[in-house]
Amino acid sequence: MSVDERGRTVAVVGATGAVGEVLLRVLEERSFPVSELRALASARSEGSTVRFRGQDVPVRLAEPDAFDGVDFVFFAATGSLSKELAPEAARRGAVAIDKSSTWRMEADVPLVVPEVNGAAVEKHRGIVSCPNCTTTPLAMTLEALRRVAEVREAIVTTFQAVSGAGLPGLEELENQQRARQAGEPRPEPRAFAAPIADNVVPLCETFLDNGYSTEEIKLLHETRKILDDPELRVTMTCTRVPVPVGHAASVLVETGRPLSAEEAREAFAAFPGIELIDEPERGRFPTQDMVAGRDEVLVGRVRRDLSSSRLWFWECGDNLRKGAATNAVQIAEELIGRGLR
Ligand SMILES: NC(=O)c1ccc[n+]([C@@H]2O[C@H](COP(=O)([O-])OP(=O)(O)OC[C@H]3O[C@@H](n4cnc5c(N)ncnc54)[C@H](OP(=O)(O)O)[C@@H]3O)[C@@H](O)[C@H]2O)c1
Repeated sequence: MSVDERGRTVAVVGATGAVGEVLLRVLEERSFPVSELRALASARSEGSTVRFRGQDVPVRLAEPDAFDGVDFVFFAATGSLSKELAPEAARRGAVAIDKSSTWRMEADVPLVVPEVNGAAVEKHRGIVSCPNCTTTPLAMTLEALRRVAEVREAIVTTFQAVSGAGLPGLEELENQQRARQAGEPRPEPRAFAAPIADNVVPLCETFLDNGYSTEEIKLLHETRKILDDPELRVTMTCTRVPVPVGHAASVLVETGRPLSAEEAREAFAAFPGIELIDEPERGRFPTQDMVAGRDEVLVGRVRRDLSSSRLWFWECGDNLRKGAATNAVQIAEELIGRGLR
């Protein structure tokens, strides 16, 4: 999407957090036309600075007046703050692009992955929502397959990095690893449901009465909304693994007509934003370590199931970039490219 050069006033709520920090880098890397940057966070960060284009930008309190005269407000803080402040930003004429889960399932809020449903931004009424960091790569890979065959079901197991829980998640892994190396007692888990160092935790976020976690429910409903397919069967287990950055998922897909692995590989390779790395015989397949710092969703291990006509694949995406910051900036570019801002 081409972006005109007219400068925009941009505010980042949560500029001191894991996603906010990457968002500033992505705005720089993509030469997003920023004429003024407002870095916003909580009272805890007032008086500190963030770096943007080689300058120290003072961090201000996120409050409604900070949105006066702003074109885009990226929300990368808490859901409750987005609930309170995104309508305030919209009321002042800005477009709020929200990374939290607060607005995703609202009927009049587009939930957008630009490569999949970029045109949905046309219907915005001041707020556009970004999907969960596991949903974005899944929506892209399923859409790639949908361009060659009907997709009926996806059975998904995720392996999610600790930075998916923000800076507190990263700190928890580091503190537990440090304590283990020093032979000290492992600090009690706070960000995760169980110790994360040297472990896999089969529960992301909050456990619900129906046996699923909130993360799993998001994956189901958001995927259906983005793909505009309320009948799509998505069943999932989301796990947390001791990896700093990068979410992976193992996906088993049922298609309307059986797809060969080669057809599926071609579909993945042809899709914008996906890179196929699928030469396991030469030791080449996507890993979380490989995807960290990249915007592409990496796909590999494409193969037919041995006991059905379904198809397996493995995908990796950087949760802070395509799973959050990059997708949010692409939404802003989509709005500019369509003359909506
Ligand atoms: N991490 C991911 O992979 C990922 C992916 C997709 C979506 N998200 C979503 O993105 C958002 C940010 O996540 P994160 O991982 O960056 O979290 P984080 O590292 O914990 O950062 C949170 C940010 O929000 C700010 N904040 C918290 N409470 C605030 C308040 N009351 N008023 C103003 N600012 C406040 C913090 O500011 P202070 O420094 O002042 O406390 C900090 O800048 C969340 O909604 C999360 O669900 C995250």
